[in-house]
Amino acid sequence: MEHPEVLILGAGGAGLMCAIEAAKRGRRVTLLDHSTKLGGKILISGGGRCNFTNLGASPAQYVSRNPHFCKSAFSRYPSAAFIAMVERHGIPYHEKKLGQLFCDGSARAIVEMLETECREAGAEIRLETRIDAVERRTEGGFRVAVTRGTESSSIECDSLVVATGGYSIPKIGATGLGYQLAKQFGLKRVDTAPALDGFTFTPRQTELFRDLSGVSVDVVLSCGGKSFRENILFTHSGLSGPAALQGSLHWYPGDTVTLDLLPDLPDGTLLHWFLRRKQEGNRSLPKNLLAELLPARFADALAAEFLPGEATPLPQASEKALERLSQNVHAWKIQPAGTVGYGKAEVTRGGVDTDELSSKTLESRKVPGLYFIGEVVDVTGWLGGYNFQWAWASGWAAGQVV
Ligand code: FDA
Repeated sequence: MEHPEVLILGAGGAGLMCAIEAAKRGRRVTLLDHSTKLGGKILISGGGRCNFTNLGASPAQYVSRNPHFCKSAFSRYPSAAFIAMVERHGIPYHEKKLGQLFCDGSARAIVEMLETECREAGAEIRLETRIDAVERRTEGGFRVAVTRGTESSSIECDSLVVATGGYSIPKIGATGLGYQLAKQFGLKRVDTAPALDGFTFTPRQTELFRDLSGVSVDVVLSCGGKSFRENILFTHSGLSGPAALQGSLHWYPGDTVTLDLLPDLPDGTLLHWFLRRKQEGNRSLPKNLLAELLPARFADALAAEFLPGEATPLPQASEKALERLSQNVHAWKIQPAGTVGYGKAEVTRGGVDTDELSSKTLESRKVPGLYFIGEVVDVTGWLGGYNFQWAWASGWAAGQVV
C-alpha cells in the first residue's frame, strides 16, 4: 500500500502551494486531482493573465463569519511573499489597477512556476485520479480509495489536506467533494452561495432594461454595507462588470443594490447640474441633457421611469420632477432576482466553518491530521487577486505543519 506522509486532494492554487511547502520540509507529498489539466482555474483566471495577488491584500477584503480568521495566514504569507516567488522565476507582471497584479503574458507561467517548485521540492502530482472514498484509520491517519483509468487502489497518509475548492465552474472540475468530506467528519459549514458572478434581473427589470445590453457605466455600487467604485455592464439578463461582481459577494436574497450613476458630477447632484443649465438658458429636454452624462439609451430609460412629464423642456420642467430624477440617478435602487450562479461564479462564498479549524495551521480541531485550505473554507475575497492570495497563504500555512 502506498503511504505518502501527506496526501493533498485538489491541485489548484492552495493544494500546489501546500505541496511545495510540505515537500520543502522533507515530507513525502502526493497531490491528487481528477482533472486532465493542472491548475485549470489559474489558467482561465484574469482573462488568461491571472490576477495572482493584490498589493493591498489585508483581512479587510474578505468575507467570513469570522473576519479575524485569515489574519494569521496573511501575516505570515503576505502578497509580497508570492511576488518574490514570481520574481524569482522571472515572470514579468504589472499592476493593472487598484493593486491588482497580472502576468504580462499568459497565466500558464504561474502554473509552470508552481509545477517546477513542486518538482524541485519532490512533491508528486497525479492528475486524472478520481477520489472514491476517504476514511480515518483506527491506527491513525487516513485511507483514500482512488481510481485512475480502470485501476482502483488505496493510498494511506498521516496528514490529509482537502484543497478541492468550491462549487464554482463545474465545467472545469469543481465538485462539492470538500463539503462532503467536511460533513462526513462532522465539521460545520457556513451556507454556500455563488459569488463574484453579478446579478440577474426579475422579468420586469428584463423588460425595462431590454435595450441596454452592452451599456457600461462607471458607478458607485453599494450593497451589504460595502461600496465599490467601478463599472457595471448591462447584459441581456442582468448586471455584470467589476462593480456588479463585487456587489454580488455581499448580496443576500431580498437585499437592495443602490447605485450612484453619476458619482463625479462637478455640481454635486444632477438637480444642481440641471438648474445651472437652466440658468444658462438651455432649452433642451432633460432626458437629452442627461444623455450628455450617461449613455443615451440609459438616459432614455431613466427618464421614462423617473421623470414625470419627460417631454417637457428644461425651462418648463418642475424642480420637483427634476429632483425626483436626480435622487434616483444618485441612489438608483434595484432588487435583483438573484446572482448569476455557479456556472459563472469566480468563487463560492461560505464553506467549512472557520470555528472548526485552527487559524494558524488550518487543521481540523475535531479530527487531528485533517486540513482544509483555499476556497473550500469560509474565507472569500473580493474581486482583484484576493482569492488567489488566500489560496497561497492558507496553503503555505498548512504546508508548514502537515
Ligand atoms: P481550485 O478550485 O483552484 O482547485 C481545486 C482543485 O480540486 C481543482 O483542480 C479541481 O479539479 C480539484 N477537484 C475538485 N473536486 C475534485 C474531486 N472530486 N476529485 C479530485 N479533484 C477534485 N482569483 C483571483 O485571485 N484572481 C483572479 O484573476 C481570478 N480569476 C478567476 C476567474 C475565473 C473564471 C474563476 C472561476 C475564478 C477566478 N478566481 C480568481 C478565483 C480563484 O480561481 C479561486 O479562488 C482559487 O482558484 C481557489 O483555489 P483552490 O486551490 O482553493 O481551488
